[in-house]
Amino acid sequence: MAGAVKATPLTFVVHVLAVVAAVMVLVWCISFRGGLAWDSSNKGLIFNIHPVLMLIGFIILGGEAIVSYKSLPFKKEVKKVIHLVLHAIALILGIVGISAAFKFHNESSILNLYSLHSWLGIGIIVLYGIQWIYGLIIFFYPGGNPALKAESLPWHILFGIFVYVLAIANAAIGFLEKLTFLETAGLAKFGPEAFLVNFTAIATVLYGTFVLFTVYARKEQEPDEYSYSVIESRDV
Ligand code: HEM
Repeated sequence: MAGAVKATPLTFVVHVLAVVAAVMVLVWCISFRGGLAWDSSNKGLIFNIHPVLMLIGFIILGGEAIVSYKSLPFKKEVKKVIHLVLHAIALILGIVGISAAFKFHNESSILNLYSLHSWLGIGIIVLYGIQWIYGLIIFFYPGGNPALKAESLPWHILFGIFVYVLAIANAAIGFLEKLTFLETAGLAKFGPEAFLVNFTAIATVLYGTFVLFTVYARKEQEPDEYSYSVIESRDV
């Protein structure tokens, strides 16, 4: 059971997978796809901002925000601020990343919001925003009363995990969709780029998996029987 496992080895794996996935998406978008640009006559460069920001900005920073409670040795109040700020940055970079996909579509005369990936994507970013605002108001400023905080925390964790799992799944769909477009346009199905994209998606899924393991892992200072610490009201 993950609750019996200490957090440190798991958070180490999370950080390693974060670096691996980030390097892979950058190599793909820069070396194989020509680089990143907000303004360019080569519209593909505008699109490339999308996977880079969605993976590094939204998913990886969002994951680091989730594991920060277990990975950092600070007091709860400090960790709360770090959690909140990392999620805010992830949300902003996610919004900019989605804007890049819209900009690419608009400047290439491609319709917007025609795919399952795009519909789920809008849902995910909206739910993430709602989760962040609710967390800010109840747990940080102005802050709910202790009973409301204790009542809200398990739901905050459940809802946060739900949205995060959806985001990981949708990123995998995004990689699949883009690779399918490229293969339809002639990219070799067993070529190096196809392998790179598929393995980047696998690294993303593994990253998300270890983020979730960390949520249920035991903090270093906790006794063995004290698992699932994350849903204890004393953490509010
Ligand atoms: C959780 C992370 C992600 C979210 C929330 C997300 C969200 C979105 C949204 C809302 C759109 C629609 C843009 C429009 O209609 O103009 C879109 C488009 C697109 N995204 Fe993502 N995306 C994510 C990750 C990725 C990743 C990692 C890739 C990998 C390449 C990707 C590939 C695409 C592609 C190919 C499109 C254009 C086709 C379409 O609209 O379905 N996405 N994304």
